[in-house]
Amino acid sequence: MLKVAIIGTGAISPEHINGYLEFKERCQIVALCDIYPEKAEAKARQFGLDVTIVKDYKELLDGDIDLVSVCTPPYVHAPIAIDFLDAGCHVIVEKPMSASLKECDEMNEAARRSGKILSVIAQNRFKNPMMKLKAVLDSGLAGKILHAQVDSFWWRGHNYYDLWWRGTWEKEGGGCTLNHAVHHIDALLWMMGRPSQLQACMSNVAHDNAEVEDLSIAILRFPDGALGQVTSSVVHHGEEQQLIFQGMNARLSAPWQLKTSVTLPNGFPRVDTEQNNRIQQYYDNLPDIPYEGHTGQIHNVLHALETGSPVLIDGISGRRTLEFIMGVYKAACTGAIVQFPLLPDDPFYTFEGVRKNTVYFNEKKSSVENFEDQTITTGSDYKGGVN
Ligand SMILES: NC(=O)c1ccc[n+]([C@@H]2O[C@H](COP(=O)([O-])OP(=O)(O)OC[C@H]3O[C@@H](n4cnc5c(N)ncnc54)[C@H](O)[C@@H]3O)[C@@H](O)[C@H]2O)c1
Repeated sequence: MLKVAIIGTGAISPEHINGYLEFKERCQIVALCDIYPEKAEAKARQFGLDVTIVKDYKELLDGDIDLVSVCTPPYVHAPIAIDFLDAGCHVIVEKPMSASLKECDEMNEAARRSGKILSVIAQNRFKNPMMKLKAVLDSGLAGKILHAQVDSFWWRGHNYYDLWWRGTWEKEGGGCTLNHAVHHIDALLWMMGRPSQLQACMSNVAHDNAEVEDLSIAILRFPDGALGQVTSSVVHHGEEQQLIFQGMNARLSAPWQLKTSVTLPNGFPRVDTEQNNRIQQYYDNLPDIPYEGHTGQIHNVLHALETGSPVLIDGISGRRTLEFIMGVYKAACTGAIVQFPLLPDDPFYTFEGVRKNTVYFNEKKSSVENFEDQTITTGSDYKGGVN
């Protein structure tokens, strides 16, 4: 029976708690930690957990914890994850992996050193429409992918950035590109691989209590000549999040929508019914995954621990997503066409380098310690309805 600790018991922690509780025969939550221990106590009461509660995660380092979920703000992901890896624990860390590439490298080095699992949350991969889209892309039925469109559309009120750690380069580490679009950038890179170059611009158009961007647009070139576009936003009403791929043979997307064209004698299109049926049939025959969202990712990590198989989302994958995001910041702040990879001598490789070279849009003037209501939403189910 694996012993589990959760560090940071704020808004996202219930997703982890519910995930572990789904697998009671495989693991047991034994400790909760928060710098506001009353928040950990409230979660223990809410979920009926008989657990140790601590204020400082270091008190858990010499316990017999096997697996840790790090659910704190981004600026402390790296030190906490590294300390637990070095103490011999497996670690699941919330997104973004960290807010600096240097820290990602240090986390991956700690995982290598300890031989323990490091998995970075990207729970949207564990949703049926995403898994199935990836499978159809991998099947090659759509042909060479020519264009990728990522609409990471979210909406957050002005007071969202009042929470003490949000909206600052120092503690949140970035704006909507880092903390919201991270999900869709992870999915894009999983499906398409890394672009070779990127151009971008960003702005803060509606949240003058945040230093960071609330809107960014990136254009991408892939090594095979395909192009892509990623819009990251917290100003889009309706939060219509989607990934659309235009292949040589078909248009595919999450939420699932299939379109095909074949040419008429004059070059104009008509629907390619045969191709349509072939791809739709392939999609319809794909099996559902047993668990979705955070529970799906926790299941994936437990399965890896039990069988020695690799996790779907490791620290290398988490780092690659952060590299893309740092590329957006570099391109937007310098006007440069960014080439990947970003190497250790890049000004956007370290925390300090990002803080020195980025744009501070506004001063954060108001700050609250905690919101009374911690209920949050975590984005689309990619089923095509309203989020
Ligand atoms: N995967 C998702 O869909 C999703 C959604 C929301 C948030 N998140 C991520 O989860 C993380 C937490 O976000 P949240 O919305 O739950 O924030 P939150 O502020 O509601 O919760 C974070 C908790 O961590 C505690 N904390 C801060 N520093 C700590 C430390 N050093 N040791 C122990 N506890 C500490 C805070 O007191 C707070 O209770 C962030 O990285 C965020 O990006 C992920």
